Amino acid sequence: MEFEKLVTERHSTRVFLDKPVSREAIENLLLLSTKAPSAINLQPWEFTVVMGEERPVVMGEERHRLSRILVKSMRERNISCGPDAVSPLPEHFMDRQRKLMDCILPHLGKGTPFQYFINEGSCNFYGAPVAIIVSIDQAFSKSRLVDVGIAVGYLVLAAHNMGLGTCPIGLISAFDEEIREMLNISEEKKVVMGVGAGYPDPDSPINLASSDRAPLQEVVRFY
Ligand SMILES: Cc1cc2nc3c(=O)[nH]c(=O)nc-3n(C[C@H](O)[C@H](O)[C@H](O)COP(=O)(O)O)c2cc1C
Repeated sequence: MEFEKLVTERHSTRVFLDKPVSREAIENLLLLSTKAPSAINLQPWEFTVVMGEERPVVMGEERHRLSRILVKSMRERNISCGPDAVSPLPEHFMDRQRKLMDCILPHLGKGTPFQYFINEGSCNFYGAPVAIIVSIDQAFSKSRLVDVGIAVGYLVLAAHNMGLGTCPIGLISAFDEEIREMLNISEEKKVVMGVGAGYPDPDSPINLASSDRAPLQEVVRFY
């Protein structure tokens, strides 16, 4: 797909088809993601893929178990998606958050609060058949999270090019311990985020609702 079309078209998928994704497709996706640049070519990213068998089940038992553990922890600890800011955010950031809510909320079922949809959905990877856990060795400083973010940027674009939908999930980093325990990820690693991946439901109005971007003059300075 032409690059401009690819980046313009891609948006997060929050409703997935009950259709299996092959292991080969996921391997190709991760191969493309790891083409991302990184400082001193350290390639600090690590991926743990939780998915079902191709047949007969779309979503395997382990994939279900991961969601159950995350949803349970989220409810028990009352953890919610938020900007994770260290001090109060200026109004224009809050405005961008409100706009995201405005584009999804009208498509939710009556009585489904936005925050409920996002929190429960995120912990369930929105029902995606594939959950990718992105982690980093604790030996790295926070600076190397930039490299991991770039790789995830490659991942979501490569996925779209392959006809796959994705939703990056930052919320799950709050459940680092639970995830590492279930997936036997060493204590030396830290869960950075997750990504749900699968075939998007093309008819879902939630998937069709596209969030906008601030105009360039808000975020760019030429000097
Ligand atoms: C680092 C990161 C963390 C995110 N975490 C979540 C999340 O926990 N739950 C969720 O529903 N979406 C999450 N998203 C998706 C964003 O809400 C989405 O990318 C943003 O609203 C822009 O919309 P778009 O991806 O459709 O262009 C995350 C995105 C990024 C880049």
